[in-house]
Amino acid sequence: MTGETVEMASGAAGTRAFGPAGSAGLPRVLPPSPVRDLRGHEARHGRPGLRGTALISEVERAGLTGRGGAAYPTGKKLRSVRERAGLRGSVVIANGMESEPASAKDALLLAQAPHLVLDGIALAAEAASARSAYLCVRRPVQADALAAAIAERDGYDPVPVQLALVPERYVASAESSLVRYLNGGPALPGFTPPRPFERGVRARPTLVSNVETLANLALVSRHGAGWFRSVGTASAPGSALVTVSGAARHPGVYEIAYGTPVRDMLALAGGGGEIGGVQAVLAGGYFGNWLPGGAALDTPAAPDALRAAGASFGAGIFLVLPASGCGLAETARVVRYLAGQSAGQCGPCLNGLPAIADALEEVAFGAGGSRGGHGRALRWLRDLFGLVEGRGACHLPDGVARLAASALRVFADDVRRHERGPCLAARGRPVFAIPSGPARVAEARG
Ligand SMILES: Cc1cc2nc3c(=O)[nH]c(=O)nc-3n(C[C@H](O)[C@H](O)[C@H](O)COP(=O)(O)O)c2cc1C
Ligand code: SF4
Repeated sequence: MTGETVEMASGAAGTRAFGPAGSAGLPRVLPPSPVRDLRGHEARHGRPGLRGTALISEVERAGLTGRGGAAYPTGKKLRSVRERAGLRGSVVIANGMESEPASAKDALLLAQAPHLVLDGIALAAEAASARSAYLCVRRPVQADALAAAIAERDGYDPVPVQLALVPERYVASAESSLVRYLNGGPALPGFTPPRPFERGVRARPTLVSNVETLANLALVSRHGAGWFRSVGTASAPGSALVTVSGAARHPGVYEIAYGTPVRDMLALAGGGGEIGGVQAVLAGGYFGNWLPGGAALDTPAAPDALRAAGASFGAGIFLVLPASGCGLAETARVVRYLAGQSAGQCGPCLNGLPAIADALEEVAFGAGGSRGGHGRALRWLRDLFGLVEGRGACHLPDGVARLAASALRVFADDVRRHERGPCLAARGRPVFAIPSGPARVAEARG
């Protein structure tokens, strides 16, 4: 394990670490030490191999799926954009926004291996017949470092990469927000269809891919599908960057083989004694679902396995709740934060999310007793879930409803106990760091 300190998006300091170097061919995308210049990058990886349609076919054979949250097949998306590109060409957007506060993997990847991501963008642009390519990030300091890396590649890539510094907000990193922003609008989700791959930037078919996905694409170009599949499982091949935080001894970013049991993954982040004390794991981040400790620890960390267990891999975010924590209180704080991130464009989101946050706070922190607020809040919550689900331009309301519902399910015993008032843990120090984040405002561009 290295001991380098990185700033987590939530503002909490995290310790970067890797799976045992060399074991099972890891790490792949994260170098053991930063490789920031092009010469060093080429010395480590060599030049790309497969390009164009040959690369698309290889990516399909590799089974590479998106690392930005939905695990959608990358080859399929690339092919659809290329098929629609026509004479005017398409557009590629690399999504390096990482607005999820509990994630630090994209920032770390961009800081440690910028040229691997830039290779991936160039290769994706060529394969998708793109005329322009953008790398979207949200922090000025990131943009400065990446501008230097891009400047080194002057004349190196067929399609030059343009950096876009996008305003910070949870929903600004959704693909339709990035398309709107690059079209001169606010960085807020747009109504779909059309999806970006049909009609995106300047009305061109647009590929939006996460930066870790693109780094993997650059490796598939060099080493092929067989190599890619030599790590991970048959249904979830390859490695993934995960961010582990909460009650982990060494919170940070780890590169794991897809399918590594959550127990082994958490062992990388602290191991031993604390693992026995895991009450629950919030898998998939603030947009994810709770899994009770026992079930979570036995589940393979892969999109399909977590989906089958009723959770999600999302962007590889795992928040650990210790036995001493209160899952209801932690969820109430996360939901309040997410409600504040609504772009205020859709009624059910604008009104529904604060109502869910209020009701959940009543369940978690309400005084309880005979006045019946607790029971009323629970009934109201179940109505609200139905009222907001599927009703927003983006999935923020769905994510909030899912997270809150999973908390009520997994912490059902605590829900009953809180009828008498908040437990000691709910009154104590929060386990999860919640960013102070920009409050909900009418979006101003830039
Ligand atoms: C509210 C919201 C926030 C999102 N944030 C991110 C993000 O920070 N980074 C990211 O890559 N994808 C994010 N996504 C998913 C993107 O819309 C898109 O699916 C993704 O960038 C595609 O890349 P992939 O196929 O490589 O996963 C977000 C989606 C939603 C609905
Ligand atoms: S659902 Fe909420 S966050 Fe998403 S676009 Fe509508 S108002 Fe904005």
